[in-house]
Amino acid sequence: MIQARARFASLVQSFRVSSSSSKLAAYYCYASSVQPVCKPSAYSAFDDDYADEDWDNLGFGVTPTDYMYTMKCSKDENFQQGLLTRYGNIELSPSAGVLNYGQAVFEGTKAWRKEDGRLLLFRPDQNAIRMQIGAERMCMPSPSIEQFVGAVKQTALANKRWVPPPGKGSLYIRPILMGSGPILGLASAPEYTLLVYASPVRNYFKEGSAPLNLHIDKDLVRATPGGAGGVKSITNYAPVLQALSRAKNRGYSDVLYLDSVNKKNVEEVSSCNIFIVKGNVISTPATNGTILPGVTRKSLIEIAGDHGYKVEERIIPVDELIDADEVFCTGTAVGVAPVQTITYNNRRIEYITGAQSVCQELYLTLVGIQTGLIEDTKSWTIEI
Ligand code: COI
Repeated sequence: MIQARARFASLVQSFRVSSSSSKLAAYYCYASSVQPVCKPSAYSAFDDDYADEDWDNLGFGVTPTDYMYTMKCSKDENFQQGLLTRYGNIELSPSAGVLNYGQAVFEGTKAWRKEDGRLLLFRPDQNAIRMQIGAERMCMPSPSIEQFVGAVKQTALANKRWVPPPGKGSLYIRPILMGSGPILGLASAPEYTLLVYASPVRNYFKEGSAPLNLHIDKDLVRATPGGAGGVKSITNYAPVLQALSRAKNRGYSDVLYLDSVNKKNVEEVSSCNIFIVKGNVISTPATNGTILPGVTRKSLIEIAGDHGYKVEERIIPVDELIDADEVFCTGTAVGVAPVQTITYNNRRIEYITGAQSVCQELYLTLVGIQTGLIEDTKSWTIEI
C-alpha cells in the first residue's frame, strides 16, 4: 500500500514536471474520475503484478480488463473531460445514432511492455489524426490529439497488469467514437462518446505467426469511390463478414478485395493493408479514398525506404500478383504478416516467406522499435 502510494505520487509528479496544461488536465481528470469508482489500492496502474492470464496462449479475443475511459460531448461542442471507470457494459438509448445509422469510427493501437517493465505506445498521435479525419467524414466532433493520446495513455496505465510480458504480445487499445445520442430521422446524433477499452492480444490470425493464405473475392467489394472505405468507419467492417466467412469456411485466412469499378486492381484485405515485393521494389495500393491509411502501412513504407528499398504507392493490377516475389499484410491488429499463397480464379500463386524474406527484415525492425529493442530515432514511441 505504501509502495502504491509512492508510485501514485510519482505518477502525479511526472505529469506535473513534464507538463502542458492538457497533461495536467488529463491527470486531474484521471485522479478525480477514478475516485467514485473504486479504492486507490485497487488501481492496477500502481500495481507491478501481472493479471492472472495464460500469456503463452493469447490470440486476438476479448479479455475483459480493469478499466475503460469515457468522454462525452454534445453535437456542436468540443470534448472537455473524460473519466476512467471500471470496465463493463455501457448504457445506450435504443435510438442512439451508432445503433441506428452506424455513426461511428474506431481506432486500434497497442501498448508494449519493455524489458524494464515500462510501457511503450506506438504513434498514437497518428491514430488521433485518423480519427479526426474519419469523424469529419461521419459528421462527428472529435477529440483533440492531446485528448485522444491522453485517453489512450490512461487506459494503458490503468490496465497495466494486462500488458503481456515482453515477447508474449501487447495490449490492444480500441478507441471508439460514436453517435451516442438518440436520433430517429436520419441526421447526426445530438451526443457523442469517445470510449476506450483494451484487451491483451498476440497473433491476430488463428495461423499464429505462420504465413497466410488469401482468397480473392470477385463478387463482393470492400469499398467504393466516394464511400467511407478510406476512413475507419464501423460501417466498413460488417459488410465484409460474408466474404470473410465464405473464405474461412474454405480454409483461407482472409479475403483480398479488388477495386469495385473494374475488379482489376488489388485494394486491401478485410483486416489489413497489402504490400507486394518484386526485386528491390515494394509496392502498395495508393490511398485514393478506398484504401485505409494504416499507421503500420505508413510506418512500414518509411522503414522500407530506410532499408534501401524503392517504395511505390500506386495502382496495382491483380495480374502483378503472378510475378511478385513476396506479398505481406500490415495492420495494427495483424502486425506484419507474410502471405504464403493467393488464390484467384482457381489459380494458387505461391510466394517466398521465411527468415530471409524482405517481410521478415521489415517486421523485425518495426517490432524492435515498438518494443524498445531497437533505438527509436523517429520519436514514434511514447514511454509511459
Ligand atoms: C486494427 O488493425 O487495429 C483493426 O482495427 C482491424 C480490425 C479488423 C481488427
